[in-house]
Amino acid sequence: MRKILSVAFILLVLTGIILAQTSPNERKEKMPKILVVYYSHSGNTREIANKLKDLTGGDIFEIQTTTPYPAEYSVLVEQVRKEKSSGVKPKIKSGFAGSKDYDLVFLGSPCWFGTIATPVETFLSEQDFSGKTIVPFITHGGSGLSSSVRDISVLQPSANVAPGKAFSRGSLSSAQKEIADWLASFL
Ligand SMILES: Cc1cc2nc3c(=O)[nH]c(=O)nc-3n(C[C@H](O)[C@H](O)[C@H](O)COP(=O)(O)O)c2cc1C
Repeated sequence: MRKILSVAFILLVLTGIILAQTSPNERKEKMPKILVVYYSHSGNTREIANKLKDLTGGDIFEIQTTTPYPAEYSVLVEQVRKEKSSGVKPKIKSGFAGSKDYDLVFLGSPCWFGTIATPVETFLSEQDFSGKTIVPFITHGGSGLSSSVRDISVLQPSANVAPGKAFSRGSLSSAQKEIADWLASFL
């Protein structure tokens, strides 16, 4: 709880300092540099990621597996179940240039078995977000964030991981306002 409050406090203070000390032109340059990074299998998380990119003007990066997962739901679920029980993580494509140029990283994933998708686990175990603020967003079929935020913190112990936001796959069409309200609460 203290960590969450301190992340929110840091963001508030940073934004306040920027707004108070700079002219409008300088403000644009000094606003936090934002990256939206996500994995999506069937498109729901991609939809939210693209809206976040449009609303924040940030950069975007898609995590992709080297071998695509099966398209059929039941086959996919069985494959992921086996991966999880064996502890084998999927390989992902290289190409991520690192987080050094960014202040704020929105990290998106579908909820898979109560946590982030396994390609996102691979991504986090290969990257270093020390000192960065990670804001998780999760699309799901009813479980909400479940243990996603905690599991991101475990994989990136030196990052500031914000509380995160869950989007139900059943109400994505109305997500634009939900995202705008959510952003307004801390940007
Ligand atoms: C392997 C697998 C596991 C899933 N596990 C959960 C789950 O535990 N809880 C849940 O609410 N939804 C679960 N879902 C549903 C997805 O989280 C949901 O459809 C999500 O929006 C898909 O995002 P995407 O279109 O970006 O891939 C699961 C889907 C798959 C394929």
